Amino acid sequence: MKALVLAGGSGTRLRPFSYSMPKQLIPIVNTPVLEYVLRNILDLGVTEIGVVVGDRAHEIRQALGDGSRFGACRLTYLQQDAPLGLAHTVTIARDFLGDDDFVMYLGDNMLPEGITGIAEEFAAHRPAAHVVVHKVPDPRAFGVAELGPGGEVLGLVEKPEQPRSDLALIGVYFFTAAIHEAVRAIEPSSRGELEITDAIQWLVASGADVRAGQYEGYWKDTGDVEDVLECNRHILESLRPAMDGEVDEASVLTGPVVVEAGAHIVRSRIEGPVVIGAGTVVADSHIGPHTSIGRDCAVTGSRLEYSIALDGASVTGVQGLRSSVIGRSARVGTVGQSTDRYRLVVGDHTRVEVAA
Ligand code: TTP
Repeated sequence: MKALVLAGGSGTRLRPFSYSMPKQLIPIVNTPVLEYVLRNILDLGVTEIGVVVGDRAHEIRQALGDGSRFGACRLTYLQQDAPLGLAHTVTIARDFLGDDDFVMYLGDNMLPEGITGIAEEFAAHRPAAHVVVHKVPDPRAFGVAELGPGGEVLGLVEKPEQPRSDLALIGVYFFTAAIHEAVRAIEPSSRGELEITDAIQWLVASGADVRAGQYEGYWKDTGDVEDVLECNRHILESLRPAMDGEVDEASVLTGPVVVEAGAHIVRSRIEGPVVIGAGTVVADSHIGPHTSIGRDCAVTGSRLEYSIALDGASVTGVQGLRSSVIGRSARVGTVGQSTDRYRLVVGDHTRVEVAA
C-alpha cells in the first residue's frame, strides 16, 4: 500500500492566505494541516508517500523535507504543472504508484480521529475503489454518492444541483490499480478538470466493485476561512495544557492553555483553550477562548477570541477581535485617538468587517 497526498491546487477559497502560502500549510492549533495528514497515513503503516505539489512546491518541500522528521517514511514529490484535477494527479503519479493499492488523501482535509477504520473497511473487501461519505446538510458543493443497501456505490455526481442523497464524498479514497484505466478513459469536466468522481463513476459503469463507508467522526475540509476557524476550535477542544513559557503574577490563566517556550504572558487573561506560540509576547490583553497565536507574535492591549494569528503577527490596542485570521507578520492596530476612523492597507481578496 502506498499513499498519494494532494498538496497542489489553486486554493482560491482561501485567499488571501493562499497567495503567500500553500493552503495545506495553514496552521490548525499551530501545526500545518499537512502534518496531521501525514501522521494519519503513517498510522496505517504506509511509508511510501507521494506528495503532489504545484506552484508552491518549494514551501511544501521546506515544511516536510524528506519526511524523516515524522518517522520511518519516504516522501516522493510529484510535480503537477497545473491544477488540472484530482484524477489528473493520479495520471502524473502513475510511475510512482506502479500497480500497488493506494490511499489518495486531499492535503487540506482534517480527520483528527484518523483513518485506520477506513483502511480496514477497504482491506475487508478490497474493491476497485472505496470512497468515504459523510452526511452534510447541503451536499451541493461536494461530490455526492448514491448507495445501495450493502454500501455499494450506485452512482456519483460532482457538485449536483439536485443531489440524490445527503452523502458527500470526503477527501480520502482507497484504490486498487483499476483506477489507472479509469483516469485515462475520462474527459475533462465543464470546469476543465479531470474529476476523480468521473473516474470512479466510470468504474461503476464498467461493472467494477465500488464501495462506500460512512464516516461518523469529525471531518473538515479546511478550504475556506470559516472552516479553518471551526476546525481550529474543534482541535483546541482536546488541547492538553503545557507551560514552557513565562507567566507573570498579574496574569490569570483558565481552562487548558499551552504556552510554548520563550513566550511571555504579562498582566493578561488567557481563557483556554488557547495556544500561545514560541517567542510570542502577550501584554495587557484578554485572549480566548478558542484562539491560537503563532510564533513570535505580539499582542498588546487587545481582546481576541475565536481567532488565529499566524507567525509574526501583531495586534495592538484593538478590543473585540473575533472570528479573525491574521496572516504572517500582519499588523493590526489603532489609528490615533479617533474612534470613528479606520485606516486599512488591505491586500487583494482580503476581507475586512468593522462594526456597523
Ligand atoms: P480543492 O480544494 O478541491 O481545489 P483547489 O485547491 O483548487 O481549491 P479552491 O477550490 O479553493 O480553488 O482541492 C483539494 C485538494 O487537492 C487540495 O489539497 C489541493 C489538491 N489539488 C491538487 O493537488 N491538484 C489539483 O489539480 C487539484 C484540483 C487539487
